[in-house]
Amino acid sequence: MAVEADRVRFSWALEGQGTGRRQSAYQLLVSDLRELQWDSGRVESEWSTDVAYEGPPLRAAQEYRWQVRVWDEGGRPGPWSQGSFETGLGEAGFRGAAWIGLGRGELGFDVPSGDGLGDLVVLSMKPAPYFRRVFRVEKEIAKARLYATALGVYELSLNGLRVGDAVLAPGWTDYNRRCLYQTYDVTRLLVPGDNVLGAVVADGWACGYVGFDAKRRAAHYASDPLLLALLVVRYTDGSEERVPTDERWMSSTGAVVYADLLMGERRELVFEPKGWDQVGYDASSWAPASCREVSARSLVADPGPPVRVQEEVSPKRLVALPTGSLIADFGQNLAGWVRLKAHGPQARVVEVRHGEMLNPDGTLYVENLRTARQTDSYVTTGGENVLEPRFTFHGFRYAEISGLDGTSGPEDISACVVHSDIARTGYFDCSSKLVNRLYSNIDWSQRANFINVPTDCPQRDERLGWLGDAQIFARTAAYNRDVAAFFSKWLDDVADAQLSSGAFSDFAPRMGYDWAGAPAWADAGVIVPWTMYKMYGDKGVLERHFNAMVSWMDFVSAHNPSRLWTSHLGNNYGDWLSPKGDSTPRELLATAYWAYDATLMAEISEAIGLPGRADEYRRLAGEIRAAFQEAYVRADGRIESGTQTAYVLALNMGLVPDDLRAITASRLVRAIAEEDWHISTGFVGVGYILPVLSSNGYSDVAYRLLEQRSYPSWLYSVERGATTIWERWDGWTAERGFQSPKMNSFNHYSLGSVGEWLYRFVLGIELAPGAAGFNRLLLRPHPGGSLSYAQGWFRSVRGVISSSWVRQDGQFTFEVELPPNVTASVHVPSADPEEVVGPGGARPERIGDYPGAFGQREAVFEIGSGRSSFRGPEPLAAPLLEAQSEQQARLVLEP
Ligand code: BGC
Repeated sequence: MAVEADRVRFSWALEGQGTGRRQSAYQLLVSDLRELQWDSGRVESEWSTDVAYEGPPLRAAQEYRWQVRVWDEGGRPGPWSQGSFETGLGEAGFRGAAWIGLGRGELGFDVPSGDGLGDLVVLSMKPAPYFRRVFRVEKEIAKARLYATALGVYELSLNGLRVGDAVLAPGWTDYNRRCLYQTYDVTRLLVPGDNVLGAVVADGWACGYVGFDAKRRAAHYASDPLLLALLVVRYTDGSEERVPTDERWMSSTGAVVYADLLMGERRELVFEPKGWDQVGYDASSWAPASCREVSARSLVADPGPPVRVQEEVSPKRLVALPTGSLIADFGQNLAGWVRLKAHGPQARVVEVRHGEMLNPDGTLYVENLRTARQTDSYVTTGGENVLEPRFTFHGFRYAEISGLDGTSGPEDISACVVHSDIARTGYFDCSSKLVNRLYSNIDWSQRANFINVPTDCPQRDERLGWLGDAQIFARTAAYNRDVAAFFSKWLDDVADAQLSSGAFSDFAPRMGYDWAGAPAWADAGVIVPWTMYKMYGDKGVLERHFNAMVSWMDFVSAHNPSRLWTSHLGNNYGDWLSPKGDSTPRELLATAYWAYDATLMAEISEAIGLPGRADEYRRLAGEIRAAFQEAYVRADGRIESGTQTAYVLALNMGLVPDDLRAITASRLVRAIAEEDWHISTGFVGVGYILPVLSSNGYSDVAYRLLEQRSYPSWLYSVERGATTIWERWDGWTAERGFQSPKMNSFNHYSLGSVGEWLYRFVLGIELAPGAAGFNRLLLRPHPGGSLSYAQGWFRSVRGVISSSWVRQDGQFTFEVELPPNVTASVHVPSADPEEVVGPGGARPERIGDYPGAFGQREAVFEIGSGRSSFRGPEPLAAPLLEAQSEQQARLVLEP
């Protein structure tokens, strides 16, 4: 509902019986409620994702129907599909509506901030404005739409009923440039005669505390919360009624004494004006809302998924502290809030504090929250009260609850899990419980941090849309969950945050900070759109941001004529949080990323039909590669500094001459062996290390890192009870306890970027080279480590792709299922590939070298849609292979 007219694109997925089913052509029809607007005609193409609308301009606020049909591999047409969409209000759409705020001044409440860093700051917090407007419906309604946005976060009601089920709307953008509005179908909520529209608007990202600045007054965008809304009622006689926000709305305050994303929310239920959102309420004490001048900014239909309460988690354990308060352990670190039921005859003060960990004495650990207070409090009315905040969120596994009388039990306490509505699209399971827990931790960290913007962490005073974290995790994110719309929205934020120099910012929205151009952070401006294109086949995202990417490339090129990125490196974070400190030269890292950008830009230019540009970027990539080799690659295959990250970047970004690749890869293995088979990368190397190992003959080493249990390793935190990915490899250790509270989140997805390897390599669900949107696959499982089986699936834009393998009794069985319109070449590793049998007894089409292990061979089959199974002698064991590869053995063992 309400898509911007210039962003209308169509995708469909097919179903079909049998095998080898394909689309050979399609036809799209778009009509308004009266007549046909666009007929694509029969288009001979297998493309089924993000097909752009090409008819006459679509009108604003209109409902359209769209249909598609396809012809199959035999030229037979299928039935027409049915779908509909509605366009947004358009530029002038909010005509007549004013931004409204509270009509009279309100006293603030002084609240201390969190004191995680020892210095408590007193913040003055203000009550959330309440707005109401009475209007009449005189005629028969055809349909009604409510459009709304805010500087703050809002909740709307009509006749006392909640409008929609989104929370924290309108989300976070650079409100000075772009405000997103949401559209609601409220046809059923209206009644004949008098109706009441209600709204509560809290500080949110626009007026509250955001980022690491509690010591400064926050309010990056506005000093107090404002609402902009428009109700449009269409009557069956064709006439229309508009109810815009203006001075006819009345304003007051209520139970929400204050609400802030970082500090928490306070509700004093006695202050709630009873019936304020319904007809018949006496609003004579309310003041007319004040209309505010707000400078021009674009109002855009929200392209992202709403944030919603996704599930409720019951406490696994309740422990009473000597102070009388309760510690609720939800068994899972998450983002959201606690919902409570309080009983008892008397009014009381109830307080809920939130933390990710406990101190050794069982009390709540809050030091790592820094100044984020994460505390909700209530004054109840007596009787039964449901206590729940609506305009804040917290990162927590534990809650300390005080003030409940003894009558509340576990059934009265739950944690509401809150995040953007990104549906699960992937699943992974294998024979290792620890690896399965790691997989779950990755998904939970994604869930906790995909709250309108991809943030670094959901708990401390930070929660920013860091570009470095987002780019390293984007591919994992897109396997786990449907993030197409989520990133589409955030990439507009990234574009809004770009400096006029062309430098992409360190985080987006950037709230007035001019931090920009940091290697591996700013590069997200190229890497994330490209990742979305690869994962979803969406060329629209590339087209929309192409100019921004070009300015970025021009910026780096202009300042670095030597083709080593040594100048204009911004905050230059290096291989952030590597246990080896700053040992990877920052300029090496930067240059590798620049080369990567150039390579991707060539591919992007090609994809959107700009072959000339593609040539330019290929040339640039060649120049950077040459400069990199000259500066950092030694004749013996060593990469300057010899860190794992240096090797990984050089290999992943294609910067090692072909004849040195094998030896460079073996040096990476040696660098790992020197750490006694532990990982030592930070955020930047972590996402590529296992893919690089598996692509260069060392899947056995990749598994060794994956299954490593001592520090530093992924399973180290898992064995210490982690339920999300830690920011640091050593967030907590038995020897030292907690890392410095200055920067120690237990819910940071960056190190979880290993997730893509589980899908792409362990399960082998990988795009074929050059493919996008999973039309063509390369299914190559990488069995190894302790795993006796692995299974999982990925719901691609073309349908569900599933993969499972088992090693048993010397046999390896690989089973896959593909949706229609997807083809794959299947590569089955085996000690004797000639013996591998495919569907219906098929023999391999060819035998090749298997890139996951030296000396290993693979049987190759070509398949189409449907279920296929392959079986043959299992692959050779790794030690046998090691012995076969003398060169490898020598390099690994020699000092
Ligand atoms: C954040 C990171 C971010 C980094 C920049 C940290 O404070 O938590 O995740 O990428 O700053 O280096």
